[in-house]
Amino acid sequence: MKNKIIAGNWKMNKNRVEAEQLITELIPLVADSKNTVIICVPYTDLCKAVKLTKGTNIHVGAQNCHWKESGAYTGEIAPSMLTEIGVEYVVIGHSERRTYFGETDATVLLRTKAALAAGLKPIVCIGETLEERNSGNMENVLRRQVVEGFKDITEAELNNVIVAYEPVWAIGTGVTATDEQANDAIKFVRSVFAEKYGKKAASALYIQYGGSMNDANAKGLLAMSDIDGGLIGGASLVATKFSAIVNSHK
Ligand code: PGA
Repeated sequence: MKNKIIAGNWKMNKNRVEAEQLITELIPLVADSKNTVIICVPYTDLCKAVKLTKGTNIHVGAQNCHWKESGAYTGEIAPSMLTEIGVEYVVIGHSERRTYFGETDATVLLRTKAALAAGLKPIVCIGETLEERNSGNMENVLRRQVVEGFKDITEAELNNVIVAYEPVWAIGTGVTATDEQANDAIKFVRSVFAEKYGKKAASALYIQYGGSMNDANAKGLLAMSDIDGGLIGGASLVATKFSAIVNSHK
């Protein structure tokens, strides 16, 4: 049995003081969990988060990174800039990056590859929009995101990747996929990985569900056969809510 990987995606929330309060409150609440706990915080909170979580079971992630090591890329952060301060994970290709900032499967691949080369563990996000689901295109879209977004990723590299299936229609909307919808989509995604990497690698791959996961629905979602964890936005901003999700799976 795999443990679960529960990651909080703070998005553009929490200044330094608020981050310190949230992390300090969270540490004892998740201390007994056997699940892997990650918080993906804004760049300006990373140093503080790494320092505060040292010696605890909470890991720290960033929310993006560039594919170059350095250079004239205003506003971007290199993977090695993250690893040198003790960051272990990085979210890549979140739907908000794809929708608002021009992220494509091709740039997702570049960022993932660079993150892996630097020793970061990428949490790569995929997911369909409501229109794509309703028009019967969900599987095509998910297949394209996996095939294109993982084109150059080797089986050895896949070991260090986490995939987050996040239907866009469920993110920040309060509408959660049902346990079955989430599990079925993740099963399909896993089958696409199996076509390329084989069954063994695909079943070892961690695939999270994300999209309005909260303390009320987490238990059901995390009990499903193919859901290996959660990527949580809104509910990760409140220590008691996030810890309840973490602790909903023993
Ligand atoms: P949400 O966000 O939990 O607020 O829906 C999830 C995500 O965007 O990762």
